Amino acid sequence: MRIRSKYKRPTISSYVGMKCTMPTIVWSLVGCLLVLHLYSLVRQKERTGEMQLSLGNRTLFQELLVVEEDNIQIPPPRGKRSPRAAKRRPKKPISLIDEFLDENSQIRHIFFPGERTAIDPLNEDTSNKSYYFPGRIWLDTEGNPIQAHGGGILFDKKASTYYWYGEYKDGPTYQVQKNAPARVDIIGVGCYSSKDLWTWKNEGIVLAAEEKNETHDLHKTNVLERPKVIYNDKTGKYVMWMHVDDANYTKASVGVAISDYPTGPFDYLYSKRPHGFESRDMTIFKDSDGTAYLVYSSEDNSELHIGPLTRDYLDVTNVVKRVLVGEHREAPALFKHRNTYYMITSGCTGWAPNEALAHAAESVLGPWETLGNPCVGGNKMYRLTTFFAQGTFVLPLPGVPGSFIFMADRWNPADLRDSRYVWLPLIVGGKADWPLEYNFGFPLWSRVSIYWHKKWRCPF
Ligand code: DGJ
Repeated sequence: MRIRSKYKRPTISSYVGMKCTMPTIVWSLVGCLLVLHLYSLVRQKERTGEMQLSLGNRTLFQELLVVEEDNIQIPPPRGKRSPRAAKRRPKKPISLIDEFLDENSQIRHIFFPGERTAIDPLNEDTSNKSYYFPGRIWLDTEGNPIQAHGGGILFDKKASTYYWYGEYKDGPTYQVQKNAPARVDIIGVGCYSSKDLWTWKNEGIVLAAEEKNETHDLHKTNVLERPKVIYNDKTGKYVMWMHVDDANYTKASVGVAISDYPTGPFDYLYSKRPHGFESRDMTIFKDSDGTAYLVYSSEDNSELHIGPLTRDYLDVTNVVKRVLVGEHREAPALFKHRNTYYMITSGCTGWAPNEALAHAAESVLGPWETLGNPCVGGNKMYRLTTFFAQGTFVLPLPGVPGSFIFMADRWNPADLRDSRYVWLPLIVGGKADWPLEYNFGFPLWSRVSIYWHKKWRCPF
């Protein structure tokens, strides 16, 4: 008998150390089902961003998807054209790009609206409240035009605040020699803070030019472009990467700076050619697992290079991939949606606008596939010139998965400090973007669309 009890068949209670009655099992199953149901609800919400919006905000979201036409008539030649514009293409008919680049164009106000139409968040009437007007002068909370060109935005969780960093270009535009690109001496990296992505407070110059030491990377006669900042959760430091160059763009390097605070001051650490390669237009991207990457135009801007940063974000590792080889792309802006990576790039035409392209990949390191021109609306010229602008950053719209703000610069090579910001809604939508069995293993990418709007606001 004893032997029998020793080798008694194990019951559920002997495994879990408690007595499991039938009701306990039933309730556990119900609990599991509830958890599964809740999980699927959350996943569903993640998939359809619109679900997180209230009815009113859903209407605003729908408005973003409206294709807005905009026709610009080129006026017949009249009066004086600037000597620079006249020289550019004397025999060809005037194109809209020529008009855009002509400081004396009769339709200049379309590309560079005057001060009278400036967006002034502290004094805007209610009908314009929270609205973006791409291309208009945008004032900070002190009433000065925002100086954050070629910039990017960091959302700081600790302060629950957005920080916009960019080139502070509030100086005279000049050329070092004939045919050299227009330039402004380095002043530094400007930083602006905001809670609503519309009202921006000037936090000052967080990384300043070097005035005296001519051998310093940031000596004012050099070039500092496209600064981007990310936060390192492990070290608690804010790390800035930027393109540093000489006036002729032959140094082609990245610079790195660090700070304990998002508002700086940032300490400049060093510059280098990453992986030993030329690096001009660049960006950095922090993935959801905390790994950060440097993306830069290399080999005479003919290809992009992508490589992970070290864990402290202060250097590159020795891993690097060459992507979009031979495609001559610059101004990379990388973002992620549902485990797919997307990138918007521009062509290489100096300060003149050109056509944007969207690219997609299943891994940051590639392979990257080119999807095509993401611009929707406006008119053909708008779409072929990225709305007369060049991308710099793509910011996820809070609470609306699949929706982003595409941030671009409408450069004004005649007066770079007066370059404008073109912010537009970017939507990733359409087909599921994971590989399907019947498409021979090739991924089906979602459509990436940047919608033109003369006036729009975030749906939150
Ligand atoms: C295009 C780049 O994207 C800008 O950042 C700047 O370097 C200009 N070229 C200079 O011509």
